[in-house]
Amino acid sequence: MNRLNKPSIKKTLSDLNENIVKAKYAIRGPLLTKLETYEQQLIDRPESLSFNQVTNALIGNPQTYKKDVIERAEDLIYKIGKSMGAYTLTKGILGIRQNIANFIKERDGESCDPEDIYLTNGTTFAIMNIFNLFAKDKNTGVLLPILQYPLYTALLAMYNLELLPYYLNEEEGWSIDLTEMENVIKKSMSRGITPQVMVIINPGNHTGSILSFDTLANILKIANKYGIIVIADEVYQHNIIKADVQFHSMKKLRAKKLYRIFNSLKGFECEEPQGGMYLFPKLILPENAIREARLAGYEPDEFYCHKLSDSTGICVVPGTGFGQKPGTYHIRTTFLPAGTNWIQGWKEFHLQFLENFAS
Ligand SMILES: Cc1ncc(COP(=O)(O)O)c(C=O)c1O
Repeated sequence: MNRLNKPSIKKTLSDLNENIVKAKYAIRGPLLTKLETYEQQLIDRPESLSFNQVTNALIGNPQTYKKDVIERAEDLIYKIGKSMGAYTLTKGILGIRQNIANFIKERDGESCDPEDIYLTNGTTFAIMNIFNLFAKDKNTGVLLPILQYPLYTALLAMYNLELLPYYLNEEEGWSIDLTEMENVIKKSMSRGITPQVMVIINPGNHTGSILSFDTLANILKIANKYGIIVIADEVYQHNIIKADVQFHSMKKLRAKKLYRIFNSLKGFECEEPQGGMYLFPKLILPENAIREARLAGYEPDEFYCHKLSDSTGICVVPGTGFGQKPGTYHIRTTFLPAGTNWIQGWKEFHLQFLENFAS
């Protein structure tokens, strides 16, 4: 055999991408392989085992099939169109994204645009896409709860991203210690690691904990302060066991935060939003402000809105524009602008306004 016809040297693990080799995914590890071996062994040689049944408690499957499953499948086939296997839009089939938008709208009580939804082949691929996008270099960090779901550490290894662990507080129901979270961020920055992404698993897998409204609001505050992208892994949102515990989606939180802030401030009364994208809080203005507004030729809520925009750049619509009971004043604001800095700015303005016009 001449040299050219010789088979090449066999590939070994060292020829592979070392990041993939390093990746470990506990629930799909050797115990799952063992389970499959036992299942086969029970069929082939049942007498060789001391048990007659294998119990798979490795992976939980939260979805149980209900009667309407055939109807749903038919609806999906209709929305996909007859030609299965053809290319679709990059974001995924519009009809399915619309189904998801409807679900989110019903869950959060506020609108959801199907154009903001990207379909992926399961959660894993969504997370892979995000990690891939941010895996600029090995100085990119990802905040991860520990305990975590092992998919995340496996993907961090694959994309060669730096793990920034924030340890959950077991003694307090696996809660998140926000001071510890911020310390992790600060420490990573001090050693040249940029915390780009933060993973929040709510409800927690494997801890079973559900994060409170205030914790979620504070997490968003921290993320906003340091410019960190939040991945809200809410795959277990339907699996709430305790009766007195409520799940809050990260998406809904913004709306709620503004509503809570209005109600915590003197001079505002706000109904809880049930839907839409807006709040319509009532303004209870000091007499001096009402008098000053009239002198300036404005309705009192118009006057407030002008002062607000002049002082903070925040532009909202006075209730006067929509019709309101005489003698009452309102403003209409959307809760959609990004971040929370503008809310803080508004709060400061409001307190100053009340002080300036105090009787
Ligand atoms: C918290 C959590 N995130 C992500 C996943 C992965 O989801 P998928 O199977 O849709 O990729 C799981 C699967 O069990 C999970 O428990």
